[in-house]
Amino acid sequence: MKIIRNIFFVVLISLFSVSTYAEMSEEEIIKGRKSLFSKNYRTAKRVDILSKDLEFEDAKKYMLVMKKNYEDLLNYFPENTKEGFGTQSLPTIWENKDEFNALMQKSADDLIQLANLIEDADDIRGTLKKYMWKNCNACHSKFRKPH
Ligand code: HEC
Repeated sequence: MKIIRNIFFVVLISLFSVSTYAEMSEEEIIKGRKSLFSKNYRTAKRVDILSKDLEFEDAKKYMLVMKKNYEDLLNYFPENTKEGFGTQSLPTIWENKDEFNALMQKSADDLIQLANLIEDADDIRGTLKKYMWKNCNACHSKFRKPH
């Protein structure tokens, strides 16, 4: 009897903590993705400066940081985070989830390309644009509110 009662309490407590977590996490997820995008912006500027200064080893480290952030971001757009907490995400994300995820993954993959190419590139500015900066706009123009 005692065992059954203990099992009952464990189930009750875990159900309670799951629902609490779900309520908490909407805000945490939206704020979390905003902070990841802001971080990526700062990192992109660093990549840009380091590459133009021909500091390729350091530049490549930050490219890989950005790549990882993009891949983490794939998990930051569940159905229950379409609104609130100052989100600039557009509903088009959830209407075209495959396209959105593919763009995110392409942005991550392009950073690997960039890391492989940058050292031997004739046109550093153009290469940064093609494999890093262009992806920001490609996604924002369709999936982020005008700001
Ligand atoms: C695949 C889509 C995608 C890519 C690629 C992307 N972004 Fe974004 N970005 C978004 C979305 C969606 C938001 C809105 C997030 C929210 O508020 O929920 C956003 C928001 C932001 C924000 C605002 C964060 C805040 O604090 O509200 C900044 C800054 C930003 N992006 C910079 C960049 C830069 C710089 C790049 C390229 C290096 C980039 N993003 C690439 C989709 C993308």
